[in-house]
Amino acid sequence: MKKVVLAYSGGLDTCVSIRWLRDKGYDVLALLADLGQKANFELLKKRAISAGAEKVYVSDLKKEFVQDFILPSLKAEAVYEDYLLTTALGRPLIAKEVVKIAHKERADYVAHGCTGRGNDQVRFELSYKMLDPRLKVIAPLREWEFNSREEEIEYAKKNGISLDLKKSVYSIDENLWGVSIECGELEDPYNEPSANAWQIGALREISKPTYLEIYFDRGIPTDLNNKRIDTQELIVRLNKIGGKYAIGRKDLIEDRIVGIKSRELYEAPAAEILYKAHHALESLILDKQTLNFKHLISLKYGELIYSGLWFSTLREALSRFVDFTQEKVQGTVRIKLSPGNCEIVGRKSRYALYKKELATYGKDSKFDQKAAEGLIKILGMGY
Ligand code: ARG
Repeated sequence: MKKVVLAYSGGLDTCVSIRWLRDKGYDVLALLADLGQKANFELLKKRAISAGAEKVYVSDLKKEFVQDFILPSLKAEAVYEDYLLTTALGRPLIAKEVVKIAHKERADYVAHGCTGRGNDQVRFELSYKMLDPRLKVIAPLREWEFNSREEEIEYAKKNGISLDLKKSVYSIDENLWGVSIECGELEDPYNEPSANAWQIGALREISKPTYLEIYFDRGIPTDLNNKRIDTQELIVRLNKIGGKYAIGRKDLIEDRIVGIKSRELYEAPAAEILYKAHHALESLILDKQTLNFKHLISLKYGELIYSGLWFSTLREALSRFVDFTQEKVQGTVRIKLSPGNCEIVGRKSRYALYKKELATYGKDSKFDQKAAEGLIKILGMGY
């Protein structure tokens, strides 16, 4: 029998994919990856079996996600069109695990349940290709006969696949780093998102602000309010507290790889807080040339992640460059959270290049204003 390893999420598309692949004569090994999304993994495992999976792997990838994907992306401040790349960052890791299982099981085929209209198919397939070009890829959603969700549900019912489809009108993707939300009324970009479109917390009437202190060492957040904290735990905590203030909500129109403009809501409280805090510290510590150049890196890095090129040489090379710049990114940032707002209100570091005696407007200024005269004279010579 031909074996295929499928990246399985537990949703309708991947459940139907399992049965469809089996009908086509494959033994299906499903990988259910735990990237910190809220899910009943036992239930989803049973569902995969009921759909016809031969075996289901449930892999806890949270640690690797934080260490090898989230932190490098945070240090680079990777961004794509204002999107902090939450879904995009999880895909190469899931693909890596699929390939690992394919090797272990001696499977020749790998699959995913992504639509032919989206970015995720590109991310899975480029990752599969870069990790092992000999593997053959199957993308059921691009091939099969179903034209709508209703037809898929019909097929699932006929085949006795147990689904407890929530009535959500939205397509939601979630991991530790954030939530992405599409469909429903959001497909008209002029519609305001309804209150239940947002998934993390709710904008409650908390009028009292909360202050946070985050300490970074070599660009990595290590302490919260003067207590050492594991990064994964920190992200969970910041999502919780930041979620209450509706921090990190974005309503964006983005340009997909396949040439479609689409509208998506993002919620990433922890990512928003940590990006801002990290940047506040860098601006205090890094010299002007490095800082400005790093801004270009964050755009390129973001574009590579968005485009499915995590495993590319350039992405890795940029990571090493970024790490080199992070040696002295050490210090504390003070953050004030209020409804819908995350403000940096203080920053300090033993490596700060900020010098009060130069910046002050007071009488103890050490800045030689007369020297500026010569500078401007020379700068103005060519005009
Ligand atoms: N547009 C985002 C990206 O390409 C998220 C895609 C998945 N979104 C979703 N709601 N299922 O990374």
